[in-house]
Amino acid sequence: MRKKIIAGNWKMNLNVSQGSVLVHRLQERIKTTKNVEVILCPSFVSLQPLSLQIDRRKFKLGAQNAYFEDEGAFTGEVSIAMLRDLASYIIVGHSERRHKFGENDDLIAKKVAACVRNDIAPILCVGETASERAAKETKQTVHDQLSVGVRDLTSQNIKHLVVAYEPVWAIGSGRLPKPHEVEEVTSLIRSTIAHIYGQNVAEKIRILYGGSVNPDITKGYLEIEGIDGFLVGGASLNYEYFSRIVATAQELEGE
Ligand code: 13P
Repeated sequence: MRKKIIAGNWKMNLNVSQGSVLVHRLQERIKTTKNVEVILCPSFVSLQPLSLQIDRRKFKLGAQNAYFEDEGAFTGEVSIAMLRDLASYIIVGHSERRHKFGENDDLIAKKVAACVRNDIAPILCVGETASERAAKETKQTVHDQLSVGVRDLTSQNIKHLVVAYEPVWAIGSGRLPKPHEVEEVTSLIRSTIAHIYGQNVAEKIRILYGGSVNPDITKGYLEIEGIDGFLVGGASLNYEYFSRIVATAQELEGE
């Protein structure tokens, strides 16, 4: 059984006190959970204060990015090694990192490997742009991003990997792929991993969907074959929406 994940990517929103208020409200509404992992990914500056505030029976913390070298002359960067005590997960290769900050598959592969080396689970984001979709290149794009992204992992350490399928055109747009389209990509992701690491390994990898997730689609999209949860953007900043999404996942898992 793959444990479900509901992760909130706050992106570059909420200062330390605003983040603390949001966690306070979520903590009141979200019940203690065994079968669903709820991960909050605030900005770097909020990770440390929130690590003292969160109820660990309810939440884990994730970072939104980090650099692959452990230390050194890399002005402005935060290393994955520095996050070891603060974050259980790191989002790697988010489309905003790829498209607004020029991150390529090679850099992303180094970050994935550095996460695993530092015992932090990478959430590797993959997904096609609108023009790749229009050109029917979705599967090729996702396959290439994924196979380069995991290139340094072994069949032992890949089990910590989480993959998030986030179609770029669906992020922040209110547009959603049809469930069968999500299922096709999910099954491509699992078969790509199975091809490299074997079916047993592939069955253990959790695959999330991200892009315009909102409470109204939660149940239907969690029922898509092969989907193990969500990476939520905008709706994770709204305590009512995010707690409804978590509650639906908990209900489906019998909690
Ligand atoms: P939205 O949920 O705001 O579309 O963002 C998705 C996302 O980028 C999560 O990482």
